[in-house]
Amino acid sequence: MKEILIAPSILSADFVNLQSEIQKVEKAGADWLHVDVMDGRFVPNITIGVPVVQSIRKITKMPLDVHLMIVEPINFINAFADAGSDIITVHVEACIDNARKTIDLIKQRNIKAGISIKPNTPVKDIKHLVEQVDLVQIMTVEPGFGGQEFMGHCLEKAREVRDFAQKQGLNLYIETDGGINPETAKQSIDAGVNVLVAGSYVYKAPDTQEAINSLRPIAR
Ligand code: DX5
Ligand code: ZN
Repeated sequence: MKEILIAPSILSADFVNLQSEIQKVEKAGADWLHVDVMDGRFVPNITIGVPVVQSIRKITKMPLDVHLMIVEPINFINAFADAGSDIITVHVEACIDNARKTIDLIKQRNIKAGISIKPNTPVKDIKHLVEQVDLVQIMTVEPGFGGQEFMGHCLEKAREVRDFAQKQGLNLYIETDGGINPETAKQSIDAGVNVLVAGSYVYKAPDTQEAINSLRPIAR
């Protein structure tokens, strides 16, 4: 069994106390920190930008898993790489014409590249890119907001990506994002997922460490 990584999303953190909110999950054993960047165009919400990522970089050692929910992400790769991102994930729906170029640019920066698909986007739309990326993100809610309900049908796509990766001998991170709790974490892991993004479940929990542990397979 491959190691399962937990990536709390700061979207559900208390932004007034961002530093302690980040250090809280780090201390509780989080593996990556998931940062949701939204532009009000690709999704109907606006969240975090480059200066915040820059500031976060200074106060944590956790790898920053930056999820760009923005149109034409190619224009912001250098800025988010300079800000200290370790992984940058872009949506295929946001860069249909230049996805390959966008991924190449991320890789040129010597950081990990991810490609994401929304709940209604089929795996075939990213098949030609999978060999180029380090991470495939399967959105299990419509991107835009935390606290939504997990869409189970998306796991079929996680399985498809896992089978494809196995056949091709690719060492891939497969991440589910949205509506993750102990039950949907288990379902995700069973479908071949090895990175779990969890926002509200981790940040609303009274005991952060217990919440993070409850998403890992051995704790069950
Ligand atoms: C949604 C974001 C998710 C979100 C997850 O657009 O990409 O990362 O914060 O939040 P929960 O875990 O609350 O669904
Ligand atoms: Zn996200």
